[in-house]
Amino acid sequence: MMEAAIMEQASSIPHVLIFPLPVQGHVTSMLKLAELLSLAGDGGGIRVTFLNSDYNHKRLIQFSDVESRFRKYPGFQFKTIDDGLPMDQLTKGEKVLDLMGEMGLKTRPIFKDLLAQMDPPVTCVIGDGVLGFIRDVSVEVGIPIIRFRTIGASCFWINFWLPEIIQAGELPIQGEEDMDRMITKVPGMESFLRCRDLPGYCRLSADDPVLARIVRTTRESSSSPPSPLILNTFDDFDGPIQAQVRHLFPKTYAIGPLHEHLKSRLQATATTSSSSNSLWKEEAGCLTWLDTQPPGSVLYVNFGSITVMRREQVVEFWEGLTSSKNRFLWVIRPGLVSHEEELDGGDEIPEELVEGVEKENLKVLVGWAPQEAVLSHGAVGGFLTHSGWNSTLESIVAGVPMICWPFFADQQVNSRIVSEVLKLGLDMKDVCDRRVVERMVNELMVEKKEEFGRKAVEMARMAKESVKEGGSSYENLELLIEDIKLMSS
Ligand code: UDX
Repeated sequence: MMEAAIMEQASSIPHVLIFPLPVQGHVTSMLKLAELLSLAGDGGGIRVTFLNSDYNHKRLIQFSDVESRFRKYPGFQFKTIDDGLPMDQLTKGEKVLDLMGEMGLKTRPIFKDLLAQMDPPVTCVIGDGVLGFIRDVSVEVGIPIIRFRTIGASCFWINFWLPEIIQAGELPIQGEEDMDRMITKVPGMESFLRCRDLPGYCRLSADDPVLARIVRTTRESSSSPPSPLILNTFDDFDGPIQAQVRHLFPKTYAIGPLHEHLKSRLQATATTSSSSNSLWKEEAGCLTWLDTQPPGSVLYVNFGSITVMRREQVVEFWEGLTSSKNRFLWVIRPGLVSHEEELDGGDEIPEELVEGVEKENLKVLVGWAPQEAVLSHGAVGGFLTHSGWNSTLESIVAGVPMICWPFFADQQVNSRIVSEVLKLGLDMKDVCDRRVVERMVNELMVEKKEEFGRKAVEMARMAKESVKEGGSSYENLELLIEDIKLMSS
């Protein structure tokens, strides 16, 4: 009798499988969600399987503390899967589009087998919204699917309206002189959205297969009934756009900023966590250098995990930064600089950017930084960023104003919201000129330091409030957990 009751109870425990696109920005936010769900119900309430690519998992285990961190959750496990690309260390993360294509072909059938064989059975899949096959397979196998979009509400909303934008002839963009034309077909964004601010892939031709895939995966999720949707954002950041999204996707859970949400819930259980999810080795030495710098004086420069820059662009930034006379910490990821000579022009990269350098007023770190810790260090007063979604949220939580130099995808949108809508910094998109770099760095770090600083501190306060008990993201996570439990009962 007793055994049967225990078996019954065990089989009703929800089992969530989380499956990200295997690139840093997606893995990191979905791992935070995995940990938040593992914490739910006093550690035993939800089983979580995190499905990572073989390649990324090897790196994650090597460079982060995930193995020891997740050991404390008895219902948690990692599983790995082939992502279809060769195990080529340096280039893989940067070939995002190839990766998505290969996964749709090669990973899909493996995923289907794995899902059918999982024991205990999976009761809900939380799949990366950019990988349409996760949804298709889950529906085929008959398991409820929740889509996680690792971007903000604004970019999601623009993606949704792309067919109307194309149909109205607002795309394609007709060359550089057309870039400042306003886009009118995205409800709620008519006053600030220019062609220039559309996601990077909108610069492709209207029949490009990449654009077509994005349109398809976004629209599919609104099929009847629409799949529930998780967004890593919070009400005070993009609440009006979330409200628009909810008209079409009533089950939208905005539960971010996830890194702060996790920190707050861990603190509530008196657990501390170093929380590294890095796919590169973190060089903590830059924190020691920051310790020697005056408060709020350092501009932190980092272009994320995927950006590739031409040599001449790197040189423009170096010249602009050094002639601004501001202190800076520039982190140069291996692979950031393109080695395709024909694209590069004649500029030689200064030795400091190849070897790294440390002086009284500047540091170049060739490697990977513990970014959350860097941004919350008191010496950091500004962030020159590629406007990746995680970097944007991390800067917001740390109360650090930004100069945005978007590279691709949602970053063009994020930079517009940060600069024009929320006034948390400056947008340098589509310009790479040493004089502009120098001018904007001085504007952010000197001339408008107080003005931007005040706004950033206020937004940080709201971000932190949202993940505390009673806050919007806190309550939305509670709803999500309840709904996950309902799906398995
Ligand atoms: C990609 C896309 O570029 C981005 O637009 C999308 O929103 C998510 O996926 P990525 O280049 O990885 O993002 O940028 P971002 O989203 O900012 O994520 C980078 C993560 O790596 C951040 O969590 C950041 O803290 C971390 N990081 C970056 C480090 O820990 N150290 C570094 O040196 C650089």
